[in-house]
Amino acid sequence: MASLLKNTFTITFYFILLSSLSNPSHGVFSEELSEAISMKRMEKTTRLHFFFHDIHSGKTPSAIKIAGTSDPGFFGDTYMMDNALTEGQDASSKVVGKAQGMYAFAAQKELSLLMVLNYEFTQGDFNGSSISVLGRNPVMMDVREMPIVGGSGRFRYATGYALAHTVWFDSKTGDAIVEYNVYVKHY
Ligand SMILES: *[C@@H]1O[C@H](CO)[C@@H](O)[C@H](O)[C@H]1NC(C)=O
Repeated sequence: MASLLKNTFTITFYFILLSSLSNPSHGVFSEELSEAISMKRMEKTTRLHFFFHDIHSGKTPSAIKIAGTSDPGFFGDTYMMDNALTEGQDASSKVVGKAQGMYAFAAQKELSLLMVLNYEFTQGDFNGSSISVLGRNPVMMDVREMPIVGGSGRFRYATGYALAHTVWFDSKTGDAIVEYNVYVKHY
């Protein structure tokens, strides 16, 4: 049964490949792919666990302020980050990826961030794959949940959520270490 299915998929695949090759001068703007092709890969859920280092201090900060007002208070302040993601809480533990993107203070009456970022992974099976996060991060809450809105590579078609929990914060510099548990469905 499995091999019959596999053959069907292979034949369908070559049929589509051949029909697109046979007409090279006319591009096809859109086409519907058959169910057989979308069934080919099974959805799975992966849990990722890592620590995010948001570093503002020192000579090479990984998060820098790129916009904001001179008003006291944080509303509008916007940061660009290229933060290391490590396996353990210690900054010297193995780097598994980076969190690249922005966060901005998006609430007038509380400390709540708009997060727009990609996790780019650089280790193991997920090396070169990425996950995109777009969400609300009320930083004073113990655990914050942010939606995963997509991904690339191994994380193509990703959906899911990320749970953030701050494990260390220096109020003088703003440096923080945040533990992330990420649950991602993908193919
Ligand atoms: C990750 O992929 C890059 C680019 O293909 C490669 O240069 C690098 O060695 C890989 N790293 C690991 C740890 O596999």
